[in-house]
This record gives sequence, structure tokens and C-alpha cells, in this order.
Amino acid sequence: MSKKTYRIALYPGDGIGIDVLNETVRVLEAVQQRVGGFELQYTRFDWGADYHAAHGKTAPDDMLDQLRPFDAIYLGALGDPKRLPDHITLEPLIRMRQGFDQYACVRPARLWPGVRSPLANPGEVDMIVIRENSEGEYFSCGGSFKPAQPDGLAVQTAVHTRKGVERILRFGFDLARTRRKTLTMITKSNALKFGMVLWDEVLEELTPEYPDVRADKMHVDAASMDFVRRPSRFDVVVASNLFGDILTDLAGAIVGGLGLAASANINPQRTAPSMFEPVHGSAPDIIGKGIANPVAAIISAAMMLDWLNLPAAASAIRAAVEETLRKGFRTPDLGGTLRTQQMADAVIEQIRGQA
Ligand code: NAD
Ligand code: IPM
Ligand code: MN
Repeated sequence: MSKKTYRIALYPGDGIGIDVLNETVRVLEAVQQRVGGFELQYTRFDWGADYHAAHGKTAPDDMLDQLRPFDAIYLGALGDPKRLPDHITLEPLIRMRQGFDQYACVRPARLWPGVRSPLANPGEVDMIVIRENSEGEYFSCGGSFKPAQPDGLAVQTAVHTRKGVERILRFGFDLARTRRKTLTMITKSNALKFGMVLWDEVLEELTPEYPDVRADKMHVDAASMDFVRRPSRFDVVVASNLFGDILTDLAGAIVGGLGLAASANINPQRTAPSMFEPVHGSAPDIIGKGIANPVAAIISAAMMLDWLNLPAAASAIRAAVEETLRKGFRTPDLGGTLRTQQMADAVIEQIRGQA
């Protein structure tokens, strides 16, 4: 049988993004060898703060054209706040999500066996937050007037379209059908009386089409409280771009921290490549120390393999991560002493030992 090959664009970015991406590629190579039948071909794009120093921009103008031919994009993390403002370094990330219509940002938060939650009694936590990834509060519509003056002002408008809200809710409903059949939509229609009321209305319209799914809505403030108070009640959570951003750091913290939080930016129609990256950023506070937890990045790569329809390889990675964590291998963010590379070595060891 001939091997199926996939072209993967690697975009390491900045800070720990580079470290966790490099380790994840080693894990991918191990799983390719172990599972067999497929080959990942990598092309690396070293864009980010260093590229900016040389070219005056963090990524080239034709970035999307360069990335479009790939089967998937795998990204480390962007941002170097000591050298450049974040809205400059992070612009390519938003450009990619919006330009490639990766409208569904899928962020699972599951408490892995053996991992301690900072909550005293978290119960069984296994939720997936679906974050609207193409519009909403990130629409980039606004302007400022005399911003440096005492009477200066800035306006930033959120744009929620019926099409955008409907498609992300349908994505959530479809996912809920494959899980515990519970969908919670995050709203704030008690205060945001145009945008979030539209979300409420679309939810109400769609709910009868999915009679097998229990759908309800919660205001984002109350939902934040319940993420902490009783996280096990959540199954599929659908949220706008900004609410989803905030809630997924919170969900990550509840299941052991950003070192374990994976993410996929999906174009469900496959009209452009999807992009896979950990939830976390470039972590300037631990940059260059070699102690970043690579697990979030490694699980994001498993999500990529699932998307490429390589479920055996994806499961092999997840099983190896589960075993590694169960056996107590830990980087400092989880109270251990392992370095990034040693943690990846532990996962690779598990993959090699799999029956
Ligand atoms: P961050 O996620 O980089 O870090 C938050 C905290 O979590 C830090 O204490 C960090 O050390 C810790 N942490 C994060 N990932 C970790 C890991 N894998 N292992 C161990 N500890 C980890 O968030 P921040 O500090 O707000 O942002 C830093 C930079 O990253 C900024 O420039 C920000 O804009 C950018 N950022 C980028 C992305 C992305 O590329 N997708 C996401 C979030 C933030
Ligand atoms: C994330 C990040 C980005 C976002 C930032 C860095 C632009 O926080 O991927 O969660 O807000 O989407
Ligand atoms: Mn975020």
C-alpha cells in the first residue's frame, strides 16, 4: 500500500512557541514510524519578531498565498511583547483565522487522569469550548480620534452576523450529538442588547432542529462562576470570539493549566487549510529556560492528525500523553522538574512502547 503524504506548514513563531513546536515534530516523527502508512512533509516558515527585525513586518504580505497549498498549518505561539506591541505580532494569527475562514475554534478541556485541578472538588471535567473564530469582537472595525489627548477616544465595534452565529451554533450542535448531547451557549444579552440578542434568537430558532440535544444559554459572568463552581456540568460550550478566548484560558486552568490546553482552528468546509496550535502564548516569563510544557502543543498535533483523517495516529498520541501523565512525568508548571525535551522524550517513549 502506498503511503499517503500530507504537507504541513510549520510556523514556530516566538518564545516557547519555537520550543514546543520543535518537540512536537519529534513526537509526530515517532508516531509516524510507529503507526505507519502516512508521511508528513514539513515546510518551515520562520516568521515572528526576528523576521520583523529584518523585514519590518512579522509575516510577509502574501502569507496566506504561501500557506494555502498546505494540508494543515501547525503553529507554536506568537508574541514578543518586550520588542513589539502584541497587536502587531499577533496580526498574522488573526489574519489566518479570518482569511482561511477557520471559523470554528475547538478547545477541549478535559481533566486527564492523575492531573490535579486547582479546584478542590472538580468532579469529572470533560468539556469542549467552541469559540466563534472569524468575527464578533475580533472583527477589527473601529478607529481612534486624538488618542493621545485627554479628550481622545477609541471605538471598536463587534460585528455578529446571522450567518456567523448560525454556522458556529450548528457546529456545536453537531458536536454535542457525538458526545453527552448538552450544549451551553454563552451570551450577555442582558447588557449587549443587539449582538448578543441576535445570538439568543438564533439559538432559539435552531434548538427545535436538534431535539436530541439539551440546549441552554448562560450569561458569560454566570458561566465563569460555574466553570469554577461545577465544571462537570459542561459538555459543549459555544461562545463568541472574545468570550471564548477568555473562557478557554479559564477552562485550561481548571484542568491543570495552559501547559495542557490544546486548540484547533477549523475550516469545516475544507476550502482552506485549518490551523493547529496550543491555547497558550509565547510565555515571555519562562523564555529560554527550556521548561515549557510541550503537552498542549502535542495534543494540538493529535487534533491535526484527526483532522487529516489519521485517527490511529491521533489516538496513539493521546494514549501516550495519558500514560505519561498518569505515570507522573511533570514539567515545572505541573509541579515537576522535567525540561521541555524530557517531557517530550517521555511521550515518545510511550509511543515506541505501544503494542
Ligand atoms: P501566555 O499563555 O504566554 O502565558 C501565561 C502564563 O502561562 C505564563 O505564566 C506562562 O509562563 C504560562 N504558560 C503558558 N504556556 C505554558 C507552557 N506550555 N508551559 C508552562 N507554562 C506556560 O500568555 P501571556 O503571558 O498573556 O502572553 C505572552 C505573549 O503571547 C503575548 O505576546 C501574547 O499576546 C501572546 N499570545 C499568543 C498566543 C498565540 O500565539 N496563539 C496566545 C496567547 C498569547
Ligand atoms: C488565543 C490568543 C489570541 C486570541 C491572541 C494572542 C490574539 O489569546 O489564541 O487564545 O485572542 O485569539
Ligand atoms: Mn487566548
